[in-house]
Amino acid sequence: MARPLLVHDDARDFADAALAGLAQPQKVIPARFFYDRAGSELFEAITELPEYYPTRTEIGILESHAADIAATVGPGRAVIEFGSGSSMKTPLLLRAIAPAAYVPVDISAEFLQASAAALAADFPGLAVLPVAADFTAPFKLPGGIAGLPRLGFFPGSTLGNLAPIAAIDLLRGFATTLGDASWLVIGLDLAPGPGKSRETLEAAYDDAQGVTAAFNLNLLHRVNRELGGTVRTQDFVHRAVWNDVLGRIEMHLVATRDTALTAAGQHFSLDAGEHIHTENSYKWTLPEARLMARASGWVPVADWTDSEARFSLNLWQRDDGRMQP
Ligand code: AVJ
Repeated sequence: MARPLLVHDDARDFADAALAGLAQPQKVIPARFFYDRAGSELFEAITELPEYYPTRTEIGILESHAADIAATVGPGRAVIEFGSGSSMKTPLLLRAIAPAAYVPVDISAEFLQASAAALAADFPGLAVLPVAADFTAPFKLPGGIAGLPRLGFFPGSTLGNLAPIAAIDLLRGFATTLGDASWLVIGLDLAPGPGKSRETLEAAYDDAQGVTAAFNLNLLHRVNRELGGTVRTQDFVHRAVWNDVLGRIEMHLVATRDTALTAAGQHFSLDAGEHIHTENSYKWTLPEARLMARASGWVPVADWTDSEARFSLNLWQRDDGRMQP
């Protein structure tokens, strides 16, 4: 079961955030609440859809360039993965770079155990040292990797859910956590350009089978299930739209008619056409990605894309802080 965005999501958090978000002039339910059990299963189905190119494209780039990464960073590193090991990507990287240790970091002990056990079975002799932590805040690496050079791994364009300021804060935090002379391999989905149309991008978030629609609408079912809600889910439709100025795909739940709802005893209403904003998925050009690296304490060293320039895999080295002219 896939669950990429590894942040706080407990019952209390959902109630507080949903009620506050629904009370705003522009109604919002934050994207981190997509990943309950049903939502995680729907996300896994999304990654296998014909329209959802990011997962398979990133795997393809990793297959083509893991050897380049290995040649640059060298063997014997501790690989720190931000988020629980994602089925295919982690083994591809680990097999290529001959690491000394693997440290999956996840807020969920359940996901952590599963990914650590799977990796340990596939890589006998590799030190697997899971850390249960929220990686969006500073955390301590295990003592078992003291003295080992580090390589961070953050695939899946998970960074895309964060607004630029928060994204840069997170990347700066990675630089601090990983320390001097570390590297970062990060997957970033690309903005439309030559070879990548806006239609390709929007279809990835509005598939023909309606799986992404179900994923989005699951938030309203969560309100009904967990907050004793009375949302008329049939009054809402899924919409995904590329916002060119802000450089992001937005997902919304649009009311098709005037509708009223209660959640945890509170009343809310939407006019026909009004919407609840549920996700931003930022996309970057390669120059923007390189600037984001530099703005967060990293130096871009290499980036690779697929033949259609849909997705990028980026190799960054920690800025050594030496004097610049
Ligand atoms: C997990 C944030 C990378 O933005 O592509 C997929 C989530 N939302 N389809 C993405 C998602 C709708 C996904 N990330």
